Amino acid sequence: MTKPIAKVSDIIFVRFELRDLEAQCKYLDDFGMQAVQKDNGSMYYRGTGEDAYIYAAQKGEADAFIAAGYEVDTLEELQALAESQDVAIDDGDALMGGKMVRLTDPDGLGIEVYHGVNKLSPIDEGVPVLNSGKEKNRLNATQRFGSGADEWQLDGDGNMQYALPSSVMRLGHTAINVKDGPASIKWYHDVLGMIVSDNIIGPDGQVGGAFIRCDNGDTPSDHHTLNVVALPPEGEMFHGTFGHAGFELEKSLDDLMAGHFHMKTSGAYTHEWGIGRHLLGSQLYDYWRDPAGFILEHWTDGDLMTADVPPQDVSIVDVVKGQYGPIPYSSFNMSLPVAAVDEFREAIPSMTEMLVKGSEGQS
Ligand SMILES: [Fe+2]
Repeated sequence: MTKPIAKVSDIIFVRFELRDLEAQCKYLDDFGMQAVQKDNGSMYYRGTGEDAYIYAAQKGEADAFIAAGYEVDTLEELQALAESQDVAIDDGDALMGGKMVRLTDPDGLGIEVYHGVNKLSPIDEGVPVLNSGKEKNRLNATQRFGSGADEWQLDGDGNMQYALPSSVMRLGHTAINVKDGPASIKWYHDVLGMIVSDNIIGPDGQVGGAFIRCDNGDTPSDHHTLNVVALPPEGEMFHGTFGHAGFELEKSLDDLMAGHFHMKTSGAYTHEWGIGRHLLGSQLYDYWRDPAGFILEHWTDGDLMTADVPPQDVSIVDVVKGQYGPIPYSSFNMSLPVAAVDEFREAIPSMTEMLVKGSEGQS
């Protein structure tokens, strides 16, 4: 296998151009991130982790995904990327700091790679102690989240609202729709050093995509930092588009549930998929579409792997079926204006449903 030019150690943030920053700020407040800086032209949000920001957007004429930001451990790797891709090394912005390069992946999606970025003090909210049937770890103490039952409030119309949002900690991964799965897998390996956790085998028996992770040697990395999926020809208009960004929560399962009811009872947002438990990566997941039509995910309790775990081949059915949870809409991983979502779901049959039915028919 080709020796990679660099090895990214983790993903830091996603960057967008948006027409309505105010609506997005409200969404991210509800989604459970914390504003670092916002004005009429830009917005930056952090999680409870140490990254300077995990979501950034600038005001523009269109709603568009701009880039995903990654980090490398050494300046030499940044220099190697700059030389091999024939791009300049620039300074990071005032918040992120460090040095950075701008790359473009095989589908034209933006990538920013940083070294020496600023780190914030984490906001430690503590992790709840859970009792299971067999293991009783919390004794003589109650389980409370936020203000307990007072988190349920009546709004002006007499509807119950759940006030406590999730606590987003960090960005864990993105998913993108690509034209050529193997070409993307090769590029992300050769340029950014990412390695395959699971090759996704499509209905035609060929590799159609993969879950890929950072190669941090003996230090465990998330099962996937990037998910690439090649769509069938009928999905051609979505090649080279953003699928979703998955944000890890601070406090595990209850954080996911609280956030779900907060987003749901606000009545303001389009739910995309969940709650469920993925098979590939094992995360508990919940996906919500933002006002610009991009999908952001809450997740918790994912798998971690060292670099010596070899890749395996998995069926595309296992990507979408998971261990439990609802079948996703056909609109899952499709960046669509919110107003177009219902029509899309009605017009396009759920590929997942067909795949799951097909696989059950075969067995
Ligand atoms: Fe995800």
